[in-house]
Formats: sequence, C-alpha cells, structure tokens
Amino acid sequence: MPDPRFGGVVPEAGFGPVFSLDGVTPTIHSDAFIASTAAVIGNVSVGSETGIWFHCLVRGDLAPIRIGARTNIQDGTIIHVDFDAPAYIGDDVTVGHNSVIHACTIKNRGFVGISATVLDRCIIEEGGMLAAGGLLTPGKVIGPNELWTGSPAKLRRVMDAEEQAKFARNARVYRDLARRFRAGLQSAI
Ligand SMILES: CC(C)(COP(=O)(O)OP(=O)(O)OC[C@H]1O[C@@H](n2cnc3c(N)ncnc32)[C@H](O)[C@@H]1OP(=O)(O)O)[C@@H](O)C(=O)NCCC(=O)NCCS
Repeated sequence: MPDPRFGGVVPEAGFGPVFSLDGVTPTIHSDAFIASTAAVIGNVSVGSETGIWFHCLVRGDLAPIRIGARTNIQDGTIIHVDFDAPAYIGDDVTVGHNSVIHACTIKNRGFVGISATVLDRCIIEEGGMLAAGGLLTPGKVIGPNELWTGSPAKLRRVMDAEEQAKFARNARVYRDLARRFRAGLQSAI
C-alpha cells in the first residue's frame, strides 16, 4: 500500500531518495547504501560499498561532489559545495555523525570526528584526522596521519601506526554495516 508520506511511492528501505537537478542525476554505485531518510541531489557520485547514513544531505548544486569507495558518511552529516569549490571525498574515509563538510577535500583514509566542521578549500591528506567537535577553518591542510583538535583546530600530534590502524578499522566496520543494512533493512510499517 503506498504511504502518503512518501508521495504515494513506497520507498525501498535500503535505498533512499536520490534526486536529479536540472537534468543532472547522481551516479550511485550499485553496491552503495543510501539510507531512506538521506537526500542525495544533483552532481554527486557515490562509490562502491559506501554508506550515506540516515538524515544526511549531499547537495551537489553549485559544484560537483565526489565520494569514493568504502567510505562512510554518518547520520546527520551535511555535504555541500560553493561556486568553483567542489567537494572530493576519497576511499575508506570516515565522516562521523552530525558533521559539516563544505567545499573541501578529504583524501583516502581521512577521518572527520563526530560533530566536526571542515570549511571551504581545506584539505585533509591521506590518513589525516580532525577530532570530534573540531572546526577546520578555510584553506587549512591537515597533513598525512596528523591529528588536529579544537575550534579552530590545531595540530596536536602525528598518529603512530597503532593509532592509524585503530581509525582505519572504523571504515571497515562501517563498510560491513552498509552491506548489512542493504541486505537486511526492511520497513516495519
Ligand atoms: C581525538 C580523540 C581520538 C581523543 O584523543 P586522545 O589523545 O585519546 O584524547 P585524550 O583524552 O587522551 O586527551 C589528550 C588531549 O587531547 C584533548 N582532546 C581529546 N579529544 C579532543 C577533542 N575531540 N577535541 C579537542 N581536544 C581533545 C584532551 O583535552 C587532552 O588535552 P590536554 O593534553 O591539553 O589535557 C577523540 O577525542 C576523537 O575525536 N575521537 C573520534 C571519535 C569519532 O568521532 N568517531 C566517529 C564515529 S564512529
């Protein structure tokens, strides 16, 4: 029975709203998980085994948004862009719940902690991390495997191999969760 809350369309529980804008349609890999309450709009691509979790907004209207493979964009996160300022997010990246990612680049294995904000033209190099609650101000560059904390964020330390492995594990956990939700999530109404 169509649910009126969804405009008469029965949403697939494991695959959420994806909208084209002015004829530009997001490219979503067939293995990706887009949660049913997310919104993915316009010039956006999402790679294999990546999860866009509940209540995320990925709005590719002013410039492209590219999200790689096995990346997790956790619940409540907003990804947006600006004129001539796209957002590039690599492979095996973690973006914690309730974060804001604005017109910036996060390279492979980058990590953005819960409720953190990354502003325009920032770069998080491979394995770099912005701690939970951090604010990375425009144009700042987090070097490879560096941990930055605070608001405004500053370099705290370079993570050793053990710490890098700990945060890399998180992306694998979320890759598996995305697979599980794609296969096992069912509407119960
Ligand atoms: C940064 C983080 C890894 C903790 O690092 P830690 O070194 O183990 O933290 P500690 O508790 O030993 O504190 C060390 C110092 O860092 C500071 N600190 C720790 N976490 C901080 C944070 N998120 N923001 C600002 N400062 C922080 C502490 O105040 C302390 O400062 P001091 O040396 O001046 O006293 C953790 O706070 C974090 O951000 N984890 C990310 C978790 C997450 O978001 N996961 C995503 C969802 S799965």
